[in-house]
Amino acid sequence: MSDEVRTAGADATGNRMARASATATAPSAWPSRRLRRIFCLDDFETAARRFLPRPLFGYVAGATENNVTLTDNRAVFDEIGLMPRVLVDVSARSQETTLFGRRYAAPFGIAPMGIAALMGYRGDLALARAASRANIVNVMSGSSLIRLEEVAAAAPESWFQIYVPNESPRVAALVDRIAAAGFETLVVTVDSSVVPNRENNVRAGFKTPLEPNLSLLWQGMIHPFWVFEVFLRTLIRHGMPCFENNQAEKGVPIVSRTVARDFSGRERFDWAELDRVRERWRGTLVLKGILNPEDARRAREHGADGIIVSNHGGRQLDGVPSPMRVLAAVKAAAGDMPVMIDSGFRRGTDILKALALGADYVFIGRPFNYAAAVAGEAGVDHAIALMMAELKADMGLIGINRLAEMGPEFLFGQGWWR
Ligand SMILES: Cc1cc2nc3c(=O)[nH]c(=O)nc-3n(C[C@H](O)[C@H](O)[C@H](O)COP(=O)(O)O)c2cc1C
Repeated sequence: MSDEVRTAGADATGNRMARASATATAPSAWPSRRLRRIFCLDDFETAARRFLPRPLFGYVAGATENNVTLTDNRAVFDEIGLMPRVLVDVSARSQETTLFGRRYAAPFGIAPMGIAALMGYRGDLALARAASRANIVNVMSGSSLIRLEEVAAAAPESWFQIYVPNESPRVAALVDRIAAAGFETLVVTVDSSVVPNRENNVRAGFKTPLEPNLSLLWQGMIHPFWVFEVFLRTLIRHGMPCFENNQAEKGVPIVSRTVARDFSGRERFDWAELDRVRERWRGTLVLKGILNPEDARRAREHGADGIIVSNHGGRQLDGVPSPMRVLAAVKAAAGDMPVMIDSGFRRGTDILKALALGADYVFIGRPFNYAAAVAGEAGVDHAIALMMAELKADMGLIGINRLAEMGPEFLFGQGWWR
């Protein structure tokens, strides 16, 4: 066991990246100290649970209603076994992949996550810069607290995600702003027409607007590192965080009473409205949140360039399946459009299983958010390096040199995915 851990931690590229970023961005040794005991993506969750005030950790970790979908997102990977080939020369392994004509260093990237700058200092920038350095995809969330222009300047190859507001003129202005900032890929999230029942957030003490109260004060007192490293540092240097990118113009502060109104109003978003977005946006258009193969087919008909099969990490409609369960059918319906996937991916073997079922790329959410929280940019570097090292080892053990070699013949089990 310790050998495996050492191997993962000893990946030359990874360690170089983590060291470079620690010196580039951190004035002290705290990021590397905090990362010493982090050997896989799940370890970031343990560390973040200690670092973040309970309402914030609950917001990131949480899902909806009975967590049926959240649970399925992990359970599905245990149902799919792997069947390796032996005595294969695997000394030439490469996890490089091509997506929309661009070469990436790995087949996984960072999913869009709202209010990331509340968990880690300048979270969106930390995620974008680390992804850019590693040459993997980062999708910036539209529900973010840092101006999109700033992230585009720091990491121009980032993708940008939007929720489409009800009124067409506001959509057009937002799309124009994103294009003017230099983003080339727009991700439109399509699984969020209404705000879901996140009673679990409320139980954890997370509400929008964030209400300063005694319980929040107490949480601050018992999580002083977050208070000083993230909250006060943000407040002093940049002022009270606002929703900067939900609309073409700056939105309201996170503590504003009108913040809920800013989030609502997506009920009328439909295929006709999507056509207007498609007409306006000249770049690559990706739809995120498709589960039904019929919707994949329609996405192609309506001009999407790619789709992300996703249940939003179990945060929208509880009871929908893991995207892995529908991946093969969606892929068949998607034609030649790239099919990407997210929700529940934590291991190199999870990624290999998705590639075997036809996925072109995998996105990972929460672990990168936790990584940015506990150790900023160095944390995200470390998370990327760990996953790259893990995937490289898994490729060797299963007996492949290129990701394109992964197919269903490497899977073992009941075979419901065929
Ligand atoms: C804290 C948090 C915030 C999120 N915010 C957004 C968002 O603003 N836009 C979006 O399309 N998806 C959002 N998502 C969903 C992620 O993009 C992604 O689909 C999901 O996290 C993948 O599941 P995983 O966290 O299990 O990897 C969010 C997820 C989390 C955990």
